[in-house]
Amino acid sequence: MIKEKIKKIIDKQFDCAHCKQLPEGVEAEVSTVENLAFGHYSTNVAMRLAKDLGRNPQEVGLELAAKIREAAPKNLFEKVEVAGPGFINFFLSAKTLQAELSEIYKNRKDYGNINVGKGKKVIVEYSQPNIAKKMHVGHLRSTIIGDSLANIFEACGYKVVRWNYLGDWGTQFGKLIYAYKQWGNKAAVKKNPIEELLRLYVYFHDQVKTDATLGDRGREEFKKLEDGDRENRALWKWFREESLKEFKKIYKTLGINFDVWIGESAYEKQMAPIISELKKKGLAKESEGALVVDLTEENLPVALVAKSDGASLYLTRDLASARDRNKKYKPQQIIYVVANEQTLHFEQMFAVAKKIGVGSADLKHAKFGLVLGEDRKKLSTREGRAIQLEELISKILVLAEAAIDKKSSGLSAAKKRKIAHAVGIGALKYNDLKENRNSDIVFDWERMLDFSGNSAPYLQYTRARLNRIIKKAGKVYEVDFKVLNGEAEFGLIKKLLDFPEEIKKSAETLYTNNLATYIFSLAVLANKFYETTPILKEESKAKRAAYLALISCVSEVIKRGLNLLGIESPEEI
Ligand code: ARG
Repeated sequence: MIKEKIKKIIDKQFDCAHCKQLPEGVEAEVSTVENLAFGHYSTNVAMRLAKDLGRNPQEVGLELAAKIREAAPKNLFEKVEVAGPGFINFFLSAKTLQAELSEIYKNRKDYGNINVGKGKKVIVEYSQPNIAKKMHVGHLRSTIIGDSLANIFEACGYKVVRWNYLGDWGTQFGKLIYAYKQWGNKAAVKKNPIEELLRLYVYFHDQVKTDATLGDRGREEFKKLEDGDRENRALWKWFREESLKEFKKIYKTLGINFDVWIGESAYEKQMAPIISELKKKGLAKESEGALVVDLTEENLPVALVAKSDGASLYLTRDLASARDRNKKYKPQQIIYVVANEQTLHFEQMFAVAKKIGVGSADLKHAKFGLVLGEDRKKLSTREGRAIQLEELISKILVLAEAAIDKKSSGLSAAKKRKIAHAVGIGALKYNDLKENRNSDIVFDWERMLDFSGNSAPYLQYTRARLNRIIKKAGKVYEVDFKVLNGEAEFGLIKKLLDFPEEIKKSAETLYTNNLATYIFSLAVLANKFYETTPILKEESKAKRAAYLALISCVSEVIKRGLNLLGIESPEEI
């Protein structure tokens, strides 16, 4: 990456004993500049240095810039300038930009694959729906964000384990089994598994209001399940399988895959050892019959690790699971993509995990906000009923089909359907991934599908248009980028250069919005470029070839970028 090259040149200036002036731990930071009037890259190192030396920052900047100019390879920069309070701005030369583009063009299919994660492993846990319940929009956000983060880590060279942690254990299954035995029947569950199980569960809770002893019945059934009672085990297994079938339908529509499917139930056997270890190490103590870990030092409320009836808990299962993942996979990081609402849970879990020691992986909570309707209230149907995930997905697909039907009139029905699927699901995912995940997102159907706004369809359509030009032009045989010398071309090349860095940043911060914004601004530049540059009408053969090669790089980066967000990019629209 050219940015790294610049950083090395700057760092070199601090190599000699005499000028080792950088304060301890401070590294020269090179940042990419958006406004090309201020160059392509910039560093504030002179200002940091001046502060430390008690000198005038501009003066230090001028001295440093002079040294850099001298040390830099000839023709790398057009100029190196000091601006404002001491920023050093780097303007790449035309030659450098052309050479960089030539590299990108040669490896365009792989461009954006970086190796910062080589030899490292990361577990990305996402989706995590609960058995016998509907997958809801919160799970949808986790699914979309987690899948994209996993793709991004892969592009960075990490070995990624895509992990689905199913909510398949807990006392609620005792209640469900009781309700099924009492009021349920096989045919009804077979016909509509999740809906029927949910109905039974809700019915159970209604009945508890008038018959308090039912609580005990539920607990008894759960105890039997824990003890391996055959009938209960079989029922639980069946409910689980039926639920998984439904989840898998949704994953198929969304194009989501996992390497590991494991439920909370898998850690049941590891609970007792964890609990006794917590006791033995003096970390947990009895409190009103339950077992708790004090987290005063961490400024957190006590963590409950076992209930008074001995039942294990969500947090304890998470501890067991974290230890197991560390042991089996030896990852450097475990990322939990879970809603903001569970922040306290993860803070407590991570704190207890640290005390007891579960392994060396960094545990990180990648949290996200709610999904809201257009009115910024809970997402609901016109009648005010909470909208279900399946309805939401089919609605976006119907809308996308209508839009594509209009837009792609020349294509066959089958092709149109495929494109509409990519556009609809893309719209859904992009609407999520373009926002800072901590904020709530709004479901504004029109904006999501707006072909001229900041949306997946806009990006997909931009690329399809570029492809149309490339296809029309036919094969390009020889390219020499030396003929490219306009502002618009240089702007596009610089934007292409930023791609690997945006990927790296996303993996470091666990945010996808910067990458989404990047693809959007690349597409805006590309649209501007071909609206002002008549590529196919260009008379100079050499120029035409270079333009075409440039837009193939852009097309490839838009595609790769979308794919990293888990979004397909149809060749034509
Ligand atoms: N199944 C849980 C839910 O739907 C989310 C699980 C989150 N992951 C975890 N390791 N606790 O709320």
